[in-house]
Amino acid sequence: MSPGRVLISPSILAADLGRLAEEVVAVEAGGAEWIHVDVMDGHFVPNLTFGADVIRVVEAATDLFIDVHLMVEAPEKYFDEYVDAGADGLTLHLEAAPHLHRQLQAIRELGAAAGVAINPGTSLDALDAVWEDVDLVLIMSVNPGWAGQAFIPATLDRLAECRDRMDAIPAERRPLLQVDGGITAENAADVVAAGADVLVSGSGVYRYDDPADGVRALRSAATRIIAS
Ligand code: DX5
Ligand code: ZN
Repeated sequence: MSPGRVLISPSILAADLGRLAEEVVAVEAGGAEWIHVDVMDGHFVPNLTFGADVIRVVEAATDLFIDVHLMVEAPEKYFDEYVDAGADGLTLHLEAAPHLHRQLQAIRELGAAAGVAINPGTSLDALDAVWEDVDLVLIMSVNPGWAGQAFIPATLDRLAECRDRMDAIPAERRPLLQVDGGITAENAADVVAAGADVLVSGSGVYRYDDPADGVRALRSAATRIIAS
């Protein structure tokens, strides 16, 4: 997959869940390409969020690509249900995936894009075993669990290192490089310069009165670097 331009994936974790459908429509109006759904189970991360019912609400509100980030133990328990609910991509955590190849292949067999996420403290080396099996690599720029945390600066070097490794893969099989956690218009240019293809942003988008403006601000920051 090669997007040709930076993709923006607003995280509904920072949206007003009482108005979820409107919050999704607003970021679509601002030009977002994807919607990011953060599933947390209270085990892999301390926080608990949502599951298939919320994916169904998002699916009913938009035709955008639904990008589901599984911060859960034993993620394979949910693949069928979430793809049925409308997930277009499922990203599991390397740290929660002892049978990574099998789990990634199971996602592809359901017709969804298979992603692998990696925490700030985990070595990138394990990715070398799965380049042929993965459509998306998610470099976490915070320790997962909550929206609104500060971007970890060392992420820039990790993105650049991951980009280098990915650029050795033929373009038609090269996964997308996604970054998630503390992304705002202030640091979007830096993460794009380091190689990110897909920007996840929760509070950076939903802190705006109109979240469409948050998407536009990210787009403009990301586009400045591409143009320069
Ligand atoms: C963190 C989640 C992120 C988070 C992003 O655990 O995976 O997707 O919601 O929110 P911000 O952009 O506010 O860090
Ligand atoms: Zn996320």
